[in-house]
Amino acid sequence: MYITKEHLKTGMILARDIILNERNLSYVLLTRGQPLNARYINKILFHDIPGVFIENDAFDDMVFEEEIDRRLESKALASIRSLHYELEKNGNSISFNSIDHFSAIIDDLISDILSKRKLTDNILEFKNHDEYTYQHCLNVANLSITTGIAMGLKNRPLHALGMAALLHDIGKTAIPTEILNKPAALTAEEFELMKTHPIVAVDILKNYVSKDILEGIKFHHERPDGSGYPYGRTSDNIPFYSKIISISDVYHALNSERAYRKMCFPSEIMEYLMGNAGAHFDYDILKVFLKNVVAFPVGTFVKLSNGKLGVVIKNYIENNMRPKIRVVNPDNTVGEDIDLLNDYQYMNVTVVDMGYKYVDIDFGKIKKPKTPPKK
Ligand SMILES: [Fe+2]
Repeated sequence: MYITKEHLKTGMILARDIILNERNLSYVLLTRGQPLNARYINKILFHDIPGVFIENDAFDDMVFEEEIDRRLESKALASIRSLHYELEKNGNSISFNSIDHFSAIIDDLISDILSKRKLTDNILEFKNHDEYTYQHCLNVANLSITTGIAMGLKNRPLHALGMAALLHDIGKTAIPTEILNKPAALTAEEFELMKTHPIVAVDILKNYVSKDILEGIKFHHERPDGSGYPYGRTSDNIPFYSKIISISDVYHALNSERAYRKMCFPSEIMEYLMGNAGAHFDYDILKVFLKNVVAFPVGTFVKLSNGKLGVVIKNYIENNMRPKIRVVNPDNTVGEDIDLLNDYQYMNVTVVDMGYKYVDIDFGKIKKPKTPPKK
């Protein structure tokens, strides 16, 4: 099961390797099967890993799918990283070769997404701050392509959307890192500089990619109500690709732990996005986007409106707000499974709270009851 770092306790056993991507290397920080001791827990906290998967045989039938194929992820991150180095070294100029790499990554990413018909679950189990920029580009591409497919895009337009999403923040290489990672609000002057990054990106890429990709990047911070930047354009004048990227961008930024704030859970971000529908985000695109992301990731501890606590064990592509939950009783044994989508007796039951707040629970100690619960 997935647990956030606040719940780590000694003796818990890791259910998956913890892999870190740093510089040009991917390495295993801790291996699967390893019982956690205080030193390992400190390592996880030191690397700012928001949560990990631990073994628990009361939940051994939960199926976790990889979000992006791991090999593809490492290859993509390496290309994004080397493009950033190239830009730093050559003062914002790049080669056709780098763009070709990106184009091949987008092809692979599209095939990977098309091969898995599932909700997009962006939970960041093995991510760390140093790699934030690169992981952000890749995740925004993943979310944007998923939304593009759901909106009927195919072939070249889908590829162009993926390219724009993968390259959308490339102009940030011109912004000083102290501003990018500032753990407080930006001053008016710093914000003015930040606002230039979509324009810088177009300048870097103008001889390498097509006009629709450039436009998708240039307007990714514009908002339908005109409150965005750098131009303050309104809905009809914002390109379709930019509208998709803008939602994916905010979604992934909030789903990541940063130096200045904690990670938000998907259901919390969904509420935030819905609250700004039409004003900050295109309403029709947002509707499609929200149907395709996981609201309550498998392994998450939740509280239901009937007072029961439990762990999400399955999500349904048909309705992401109605997962299947395995109840955890007050004596730490597991109880019945509550299927919010298919079992009509639970029609009026909803998920009301997220488990990362329940810091006293020892997730490693939840166990099967001696006699199995009644179905
Ligand atoms: Fe941006």
